[in-house]
Amino acid sequence: MEPSKKRAEKTSRRNFLGQALTAAGTAIAAPAIINQTTAAKEVIQSSEGNMDLTLTVNGQPRTLNIEPRVTLLDALRDRLGLVGSKKGCDHGQCGACTVLIDGQRVYSCLSLAVMQEGKAIVTIEGLAKGDTLHPMQAAFIDNDGFQCGYCTPGQICASVALVEEVKRGCASVVTQDLNRPPQLAELSEAEIKERLSGNLCRCSAYNGIVAAVQQVAGQKPPSPTATMIISELQEMPA
Ligand code: FES
Ligand code: FES
Repeated sequence: MEPSKKRAEKTSRRNFLGQALTAAGTAIAAPAIINQTTAAKEVIQSSEGNMDLTLTVNGQPRTLNIEPRVTLLDALRDRLGLVGSKKGCDHGQCGACTVLIDGQRVYSCLSLAVMQEGKAIVTIEGLAKGDTLHPMQAAFIDNDGFQCGYCTPGQICASVALVEEVKRGCASVVTQDLNRPPQLAELSEAEIKERLSGNLCRCSAYNGIVAAVQQVAGQKPPSPTATMIISELQEMPA
């Protein structure tokens, strides 16, 4: 074959392969790009639009139609009318918005409502049983664990969680002996303060708050009122 013909054949084969690969690449890539673009559009559209969701709050299913960016705190306060949880900083720094989610304390200002579907949310409104206060609520009253009361719902929810955490054997950074689980009856004042350090009180009612936790932990005799409330609670069916 003449060299010029060979060159032409090579060129045309190279061109052919190049065109074929380009076409194949386009054919493969095009649907992927379209799919990605569609998915991105859907995400943007859904983040712009409202979503239906059902939250279980204080044992009750509550249906909402909200934007995905709504925090749990705003959903509770502004959409469900549960204004017990307070907005202090709205930045995860004060603890006024603390609620319980599946038994764990959570800053509701830092959590999106849409993330909580299917979980059990308990706010300060859900702690009492009818007219009977939760022992921690009664202990806060007994021990003057508040002044203005703004931080109190968060302090009480955090304290309820604190007691459960100790019962589960969770240590804190000031736990002295990590070889044995902490005991409620032995929980030091430093432990209680450390474990509640995520909840600030501008009125500085800390002494009463610590005393309330000590009372529920069984470290000091509860007041006659609290004794009555606790025994009533124990007699109630779960
Ligand atoms: S309002 Fe949530 S931590 Fe302050
Ligand atoms: S009681 Fe007022 S901020 Fe705590």
